[in-house]
Amino acid sequence: MELKFPKKWRESLSLKIRFLKKVDSTNDYLKLYETNFAVVADFQEKGKGRNGRTWKSEEGKGLYMSVSLPKPKKFLTLASLCCGVAVVKVLKKYSNEFTLKWPNDIYLNGKKAGGILVETTKNKIIYGIGINLYYKRHELQNLEHQATSLIEEGIRTNRSILAMEIAHAVKFYHQKLERGEFQIGEFEKHCFIIGRKIKVIKRNCTIEGKALGVDAEGFLVVETSNGKIERIFTDASVRLA
Ligand code: BTN
Repeated sequence: MELKFPKKWRESLSLKIRFLKKVDSTNDYLKLYETNFAVVADFQEKGKGRNGRTWKSEEGKGLYMSVSLPKPKKFLTLASLCCGVAVVKVLKKYSNEFTLKWPNDIYLNGKKAGGILVETTKNKIIYGIGINLYYKRHELQNLEHQATSLIEEGIRTNRSILAMEIAHAVKFYHQKLERGEFQIGEFEKHCFIIGRKIKVIKRNCTIEGKALGVDAEGFLVVETSNGKIERIFTDASVRLA
């Protein structure tokens, strides 16, 4: 099988990859094993999304995978943004229309096509990646955001190859992060809300303003309508205004 990812990503990137039929959650599975390990499942019985939500994980309809690596000693708040860049770089080989929405959403043609859930244990960081591959549009209704799948946008992929490309890209970017070489500008370049008017929904309030950028710690920087600068933490939900 030909693996289409740059040769430099394969160099010295030893990573064990296991394909499983079913798991509770690929993130939870990896909590029990060593690092430098990736797992891909046909389906998840308890797929987890951000902020305590569930992640739709039907059999054969999506890519459900996680990559476990040693927990970085620094720059932890940038890890999920760094993972987003790794994933979107791979996906852009299939279509230029893939973008990111701060902090963790993967968008395709203006709709959510995937997400990232990063978890840590004492020594590990687990990058969980979910991408809608074969869901039909009607199967993605009733989600809180407008969602799509690659197939609905005319993109056909080989799930195993995609998983291997993503696993290696995530490890490559993780190593960049550890060396202090991950530039937040790389994330901003792919993030479609930067420079746009947005609405930020926090636990107890809503803010409207312009997304100016992402700071060195991974916070979204917003200039509100009355000229105030706010730093937004990743538990907020953001949409275009
Ligand atoms: C989000 O809410 O947007 C993040 C979704 C992350 C889903 C993936 S699927 C593989 C991994 N295992 C999980 O239980 N969740 C992540």
